[in-house]
Amino acid sequence: MNVLVIGQGGREHALVRALKQSISSVSAVHALPGSDGMTSEATCHNVEWSDFERVFSVIRENKIGCVIIGPEIPLAGGLSDVLRKAGVAVVGPSKEAAQLESSKIFSKEFMISAGVPTARSFTVSAVDECLARASAFAPPYVLKADGLAAGKGVFICADMNELRAAAEALFERRALGEAGERALLEEFSPGYEISYLILTNGRDYASLPLAQDHKRLLDDDRGPNTGGMGVVAPVPLAPDIHEEILRRVVVPSVAEIGRRGYTFNGVLFIGLMMTPEGPSVLEYNTRFGDPETQALLPLLDGEWGDVLTRLSRGEVANLRWKPLSSACVVLAAQGYPDSPVKGAWVRLQQSNEQRRYLLHAGTRRSGDEWSTNGGRVLNAIGLGATLRDAIEAAYESAGTVQSESLFFRRDIGRKQLR
Ligand code: AMP
Ligand code: GLY
Repeated sequence: MNVLVIGQGGREHALVRALKQSISSVSAVHALPGSDGMTSEATCHNVEWSDFERVFSVIRENKIGCVIIGPEIPLAGGLSDVLRKAGVAVVGPSKEAAQLESSKIFSKEFMISAGVPTARSFTVSAVDECLARASAFAPPYVLKADGLAAGKGVFICADMNELRAAAEALFERRALGEAGERALLEEFSPGYEISYLILTNGRDYASLPLAQDHKRLLDDDRGPNTGGMGVVAPVPLAPDIHEEILRRVVVPSVAEIGRRGYTFNGVLFIGLMMTPEGPSVLEYNTRFGDPETQALLPLLDGEWGDVLTRLSRGEVANLRWKPLSSACVVLAAQGYPDSPVKGAWVRLQQSNEQRRYLLHAGTRRSGDEWSTNGGRVLNAIGLGATLRDAIEAAYESAGTVQSESLFFRRDIGRKQLR
């Protein structure tokens, strides 16, 4: 079958690579728009996802049998509905279900009706209301813009002054536009975070190995939150804790999707805070994580082409995993996350090794020269028999890159090794 990946970042490059390696289930891989870094593995089509007419031409002309939607914006924009209505098989939930990610208020309401553990919260839309509601909680306070904000919509405020500043930015200065017209004021949950991804059709589910992202920009979890600076997987977890996550979070979340009759056939990414009282749901995403996907896909014992084409038809495959560990180190451009430098030179060696390689998240090629073209620029991937080997391989891979502008965290997975 010929498959089409929508998107252009590191997550999509990981999908393209995994589909290219799916020799018995995939004949040709296409990407829309794709990126310069993918051209040896996929045919890229320089088309906007929202230009439905041209998207359909690409699908028709290339006999695409399955479309896999990477990012949240086309899902929130209803691309999967448009394609399904025309009879195209899609990995990615409906626009209705994608509100689990595109609206924090909708998502919280879903969590409450599903009965999953999550922090207490209020919906707020004005500064005074926000400060008055906060008196019900102890600091720090968590304020979350309702809409999609590319990782910039969550404010952790140490005290009332910081909360006032965040609320003024959202409600008075409209710093995030419509996305911040309403917000969720949430109680702070202490603990450590894990990313729990499942494939689901709203009835059955299959879990991916547990992954741990590193959201803060700098070593030792300092600096601002980002889209994610590195991932290790699988994260070892005691069997009884894993069982608790399944029973209290995963099973009721899938049941609620089913009860509401959502068309899903995609990935539910559950962001969990592991608190002293057990798991608490921080957020849902309705897509593969970035950079979780880059670390998780190579662990499958099987072909992603087979798993994803079946998922697009509503079938959840049994997943088996290799006895390997994996690490992904994100190489970001100076200035990320606020204003990453574009056009800075990068020198890299493409490696065909299975054990360590680079994925392109935001690069551009002109002749033989590469340059930065995004915040997160490259992903260095390492695999190994142990987590220590995987992390070492990922850093070896990062070390092969030369650049005037890239930086990366030096402590990805260090906590897990301790
Ligand atoms: P979210 O987009 O909702 O996952 O929030 C982004 C990040 O903010 C999370 O990955 C956490 O690091 C942090 N965060 C969100 N909600 C809370 C909370 N209730 N308590 C503590 N940290 C939180
Ligand atoms: N790595 C977090 C996300 O994909 O949202």
